Amino acid sequence: MAYARVETVGILTAGGDCPGLNAVLRAFVRTSARTATWKILGIPDGYEGLVNDAPFRTLDGDAVRGILPRGGTILGTSNRCNPFAVRHTVDGELTVTDESEKAVAKLRAHDVDVLVVVGGDGSLGVGLQLQRQYSIPVVGIPKTIDNDLSSTDITFGFDTAVATATDALDKLHSTAESHHRVMILEVMGRNAGWIALESGLAGGADIIVIPEIPFRVERIAEAILERGRRGIHFSMLVAAEGARPVGGEPILAQRVGPDGYPRLGGIGAWLVEQLSQHVGYEVRATVLGHLQRGGSPSPFDRVLASRLGAHAALLVGAGDFGKMVGVRGLEIVPVPIEHAVGVQKLVPPCGERVMTARHLGIAFGD
Ligand code: F6P
Repeated sequence: MAYARVETVGILTAGGDCPGLNAVLRAFVRTSARTATWKILGIPDGYEGLVNDAPFRTLDGDAVRGILPRGGTILGTSNRCNPFAVRHTVDGELTVTDESEKAVAKLRAHDVDVLVVVGGDGSLGVGLQLQRQYSIPVVGIPKTIDNDLSSTDITFGFDTAVATATDALDKLHSTAESHHRVMILEVMGRNAGWIALESGLAGGADIIVIPEIPFRVERIAEAILERGRRGIHFSMLVAAEGARPVGGEPILAQRVGPDGYPRLGGIGAWLVEQLSQHVGYEVRATVLGHLQRGGSPSPFDRVLASRLGAHAALLVGAGDFGKMVGVRGLEIVPVPIEHAVGVQKLVPPCGERVMTARHLGIAFGD
């Protein structure tokens, strides 16, 4: 193994945070300490830490002690910064600049030989671009609670998010039944409805709407009314934030946020308005929001994150760059980052999980 050639590894956590990031950092540091001699520098706040003056910090055994059960990331993160297209808003005007040379200069000033990126498709894509354009060797560790990354069966954080959403559904269920209401739970999922689908299955939802299966309000209403005809005067609906009506667009909380990116959100409130016109029940919405991204990782996510962090250190040692560690069945395997970032892993509309949900009588409003 070519451990001796790598003297300094930089590691960053980028994109939206999710439970398990600290477990990854801990596993990477601990495995490195046992298998290699390199120094590890933690880069603050994702790619932002490459284009600003924030100092890197040494990550050693002491730095990662006690962080396994902690949510968030001790390094900080940002889901707004791409060094190749940094957005600045000055006096209401948005400008976009390529600051990748500055990012690379900072890495070189710290003698970083290898960059480890813990991130989703956008962040891993930036890592790949840094490798291609500036020959910075990159190793990726997949991260997204949305579970929408290709080339890996699952990502850490997803299990915890589904558990949080399921808990919310369980709690909403009893109040929905007591008050004879339709309760809507809005969960994350910009393009992929995995959290909505799995929490809906786990939490006994009656209706699930996801981006991959456009819905008709009338069909959702019909499912609610049909329950009423059977004497069941409450319904539980889970909506992924990116769900949209047939021929329509996802609902935006803000067309363009202060950072220039559209912000999704509001499908729950929109459905309250629409469904209230069709059903005789009171319809209420709860937005789960960042609760599903926070908190302590589940045991499953702690184990998965630890496996990925450990295998990423071995990949660096093997000099197998341009790869990320992915989950395939029971194994952790290296996969080319370019395969992971090309296409999102969406819920197959006719796949087994959707069919199971339909067999259980769950409606998708299609
Ligand atoms: O990480 C992806 C995601 O969870 C999306 O599902 C969601 O749209 C987004 O993060 C929200 O991020 P934030 O509101 O923190 O910017």
